[in-house]
Amino acid sequence: MLEGVLVDLVPYDKRFKDQDHRWWNNESVFWSGEGQRNFVSKAQVEAEHKEWYDSTEPDTGVPFGVLAKDGTPLGYFGINWIAPFSRIANLGASIGEPDYWGGGYGTDALLLLIEYCFRTLDMRKVWLGTMSINVRVIRQMEKVGFKLEALRRDAVHADGKWYDEPSYGMFREDWPGYTVMVERLGLKARPPKEG
Ligand SMILES: CC(C)(COP(=O)(O)OP(=O)(O)OC[C@H]1O[C@@H](n2cnc3c(N)ncnc32)[C@H](O)[C@@H]1OP(=O)(O)O)[C@@H](O)C(=O)NCCC(=O)NCCS
Repeated sequence: MLEGVLVDLVPYDKRFKDQDHRWWNNESVFWSGEGQRNFVSKAQVEAEHKEWYDSTEPDTGVPFGVLAKDGTPLGYFGINWIAPFSRIANLGASIGEPDYWGGGYGTDALLLLIEYCFRTLDMRKVWLGTMSINVRVIRQMEKVGFKLEALRRDAVHADGKWYDEPSYGMFREDWPGYTVMVERLGLKARPPKEG
């Protein structure tokens, strides 16, 4: 378990898999899936679980469940894949509960994930791509210290319009460490959400 201030990162177990049908059909998937709006059936969710989480095929992905301190499963944060020879990790991020957006939970999860990539896995670089209208993740990239590295023009089709796809990266030498970042961003533990 990777222990944070607002959340912990834990194995993506049944607590999270049981939420996936709901999460993959709510607003969060539009943002994490870059414009995705199609309905996902329970059978499709199960098939994806088999392919990704239960597969015995070699795979470089490292999925974590994001758990609030009161035990509420909040979403997925993880390494989608690693380029092993260059030691570069592509990150994926989604808080599936929109009520928790904008409260720092995703940023704590991101800091934990970066720390894990650099300090545990000895990655050289981490990166993440998104669509240009995803203001929350773009703000998050900036405040955590990622640099804009590329802009794929008109690469995403969302709600009938084309959007650019910015790509953000960070090198290990630019990472001051989890504790420093928590201090810098002023992340503080908070009481559990009502209701
Ligand atoms: C993106 C995501 C992981 C960020 O996590 P989070 O917990 O919401 O992030 P935080 O609360 O720490 O930070 C979000 C920042 O965006 C800002 N923000 C929120 N709504 C905003 C808006 N409409 N316009 C501009 N900025 C906004 C917040 O003010 C905050 O910045 P601040 O700390 O300077 O105030 C989360 O919102 C999420 O999972 N969204 C849905 C899926 C998704 O977009 N995944 C990313 C795919 S690449």
